[in-house]
Amino acid sequence: MADLEWNEAYGIGVPELDADLRRLHDLYCAIRASLEGGGVSTDLRAVCGELIDTARAHFAREERLMEVCDYPDRAAHAKLHQSFLEQVEDVWTFVRDDGARDDYMARFLVLGFIGKWLKMHIMVVDQKFGEFLALRGHAGGRA
Ligand SMILES: [Fe+2]
Repeated sequence: MADLEWNEAYGIGVPELDADLRRLHDLYCAIRASLEGGGVSTDLRAVCGELIDTARAHFAREERLMEVCDYPDRAAHAKLHQSFLEQVEDVWTFVRDDGARDDYMARFLVLGFIGKWLKMHIMVVDQKFGEFLALRGHAGGRA
C-alpha cells in the first residue's frame, strides 16, 4: 500500500465497506506525509486516532455482513481484525508516549506495520470475502 495509489479494484464491491477501505488508505497516506514532514505532530496524533476509529468501525461493519452471509471464514477473519486493533493500539501508544522523539522508530512502526498489514488485509484477506460474496450472488459482491 505504501507505494500504491488507491485503485477501485482494491474494494470488494460493497460500497459502504469500500468507502471505509478508501478512507483507511487515505489516512495511511496522511500519516506517511505527516511523518515525512518530520516527527510526531499533533496532526499525526489526530490522524492515527482516526485511523484506529475508522478501522474499528469498518471491521464491525464487515463482520456484520459476514454474519448475515454466513461467511465460513468469518471467525478467522474477525480474529485478524482483533489482532490488528490490539497491535496498532500498542504501536500507537508506544509512538505517542515513548517514541515521539524517535522519527525512525515512528516511521518503522507506523508505516511498516500499518502499511504492510493494510496492504495484506485489503488485497488478500478482504478480497477473499469479496469473491465469496460474488460467488453467492450477493448484491454487494463484485460482479
Ligand atoms: Fe477485513
